[in-house]
Amino acid sequence: MVVIVAIESSCDETAAAVCQHGEILSNVIASQQEHAEYGGVVPELASRAHMQQIVPVVSRALHDAGMQVGDIDAVAFTQAPGLIGALFVGAQFARSMALALDKPLIAVHHMQAHVLANLIEKERPSFPFLCLTVSGGHTQIVRCLSPYELEVIGETIDDAAGEAFDKSAKLIGLPYPGGPLIDRYAQQGNPFAFAFPEPQIAGLNFSFSGLKTAILYFLQENEAKMPGFSEVRRADICASVQQRIVSILMNKLKKASLQTGIRTVCLAGGVSANSGLRRALKEAGSELGWQTYYPSTQYCTDNAAMIAITAWYKYLRHDFSPLETVPTARAGW
Ligand code: KG4
Ligand code: ZN
Repeated sequence: MVVIVAIESSCDETAAAVCQHGEILSNVIASQQEHAEYGGVVPELASRAHMQQIVPVVSRALHDAGMQVGDIDAVAFTQAPGLIGALFVGAQFARSMALALDKPLIAVHHMQAHVLANLIEKERPSFPFLCLTVSGGHTQIVRCLSPYELEVIGETIDDAAGEAFDKSAKLIGLPYPGGPLIDRYAQQGNPFAFAFPEPQIAGLNFSFSGLKTAILYFLQENEAKMPGFSEVRRADICASVQQRIVSILMNKLKKASLQTGIRTVCLAGGVSANSGLRRALKEAGSELGWQTYYPSTQYCTDNAAMIAITAWYKYLRHDFSPLETVPTARAGW
């Protein structure tokens, strides 16, 4: 039975997980609170917090899995993309551990891992499938033919879906990260109270920057007419913003399914925790005869279980990385 310990440190979550033959035994996440007052992640603070958290988080993951350091067969880590200082902490820890234990090192791409999080649970999609990966930094439609053949067929040309949520939330007066708060307020609001524009972008690419500007002008205009508008109508504004972001995403996903003929469709990434998006996927599934999947919430937002499952597939092919492997902030795939 192969035991892999995996480390994720690409942004503001220090995470470690243990998997045994493709089954996740533990999944530990230490979220950093120090960024909230700055309204976004401060890279230097993130690196320092990773330094403090990494040893306790990895120890905890081993403990929760009932494993000792000596049981480890391979060490995996997020190699790209992400904040370079943050990535270095995880990479350096993983490299040192692999060297000390004389075990293989497995470098994992964070965006591939988000997609393969769909393979963690027992009820999982069969290949080929489409995956809409929506996070704070990325928005992609990925055609997945096997764990080793993932192809990006559409992506954002400006902001990511998570950024669209977070920037809208900021305009509405909600604290960072506002995505989950928009989701929460939206549940009491009318999604058709206000109509925000849907951009006309060719092909399978996305754009969210126009939406942000539209919301800014909409709020300025209404605040001028009625001071306190954003607060009084908060639920309706959140529901309408969420509705538009979800419809932009779903329309492209439907287009991708038509173009590729693939009708098994998954979600991944932090924004796939959004209840409106999950509901819209299910509705499209019953309307269009899709098989639909999304990971449980703990595997949607950044986590190390997704790094572990990706590493497991790499292990099966002995796709190991040299100990000199360094992280990179930006990386295609
Ligand atoms: O994948 P993730 O945890 O980190 C990145 O790799 O970026 O995604 C974080 C993003 C943030 O923009 C956050 O606001 C958004 O996911 N998010 C949500 C929800 N939960 C997290 N957005 C909308 N609704 C949610 N329930
Ligand atoms: Zn992520």
